[in-house]
Amino acid sequence: MFFPRRATQVEYFDSPDRTHSELVEGYASLNRVNQWFIFADPFQRSLPRLLGEEQCRELSILDLGAGDGLLGRTLERWASNRGWKWKFTNLDVNPGALALNPGARNVVGSALALPFDDRSFDVVIGSQMTHHFSDEEVVIHLREAWRVARLAICLTDLQRSALLYLVVRMMFLLARFPGHFQQDGLLSVKRGFRMDELQRFAEAAKISSPQVFSYYGMRLILQAKKV
Ligand SMILES: C[S@@+](CC[C@H](N)C(=O)[O-])C[C@H]1O[C@@H](n2cnc3c(N)ncnc32)[C@H](O)[C@@H]1O
Repeated sequence: MFFPRRATQVEYFDSPDRTHSELVEGYASLNRVNQWFIFADPFQRSLPRLLGEEQCRELSILDLGAGDGLLGRTLERWASNRGWKWKFTNLDVNPGALALNPGARNVVGSALALPFDDRSFDVVIGSQMTHHFSDEEVVIHLREAWRVARLAICLTDLQRSALLYLVVRMMFLLARFPGHFQQDGLLSVKRGFRMDELQRFAEAAKISSPQVFSYYGMRLILQAKKV
């Protein structure tokens, strides 16, 4: 079986030793990949289905591990084209990442101890940040996301599949990316999740009726709605 357990090695992306230019280069590379892999699409499909179009008209959304905020900007524009108003707050532990998105609602903080009251946001989302945590931390992070959500949570992350590993390897053979980014990209897949693992973590976090879907065998979507 392809990597039966999640890798525990830490990504260079999380290193405090990264220089400013490495940070800028890292997010620029990530954005290229995100756009190729249409990373906003799972949210565009899931949220209207989960909440109903009527409730989607106006939402406050917290993006966990938002980095330079590309996801929020993309979704805000997409919602606006439908006449909806989605207002994003970007949270990241790295102030340098948030500084790449000046003028946005940015909050420096950890997804493991969110600096917000219970039910502070209609929806809490996150993209490719859950795999940065150890198994124990994943449960804390999911519990925190659920706590500050009023209506729902929707988190996407990498599926630990041989298919995704192969696709990422091919991408690095065909397109130029910095060395650290390539190492982190392959490591991220090994730090990703299988469906049953993410389901178990969500249940351990006491999220009610969590649903985990595979998105083309390469990503997982974890969603849950509060009643
Ligand atoms: C792979 S990047 C994903 C960025 C963005 N969400 C995306 O989809 O491109 C992971 C992000 O999680 C952030 N992060 C890591 N640990 C965190 C924590 N404890 N709390 C909040 N953000 C964290 C990193 O700084 C980084 O911006």
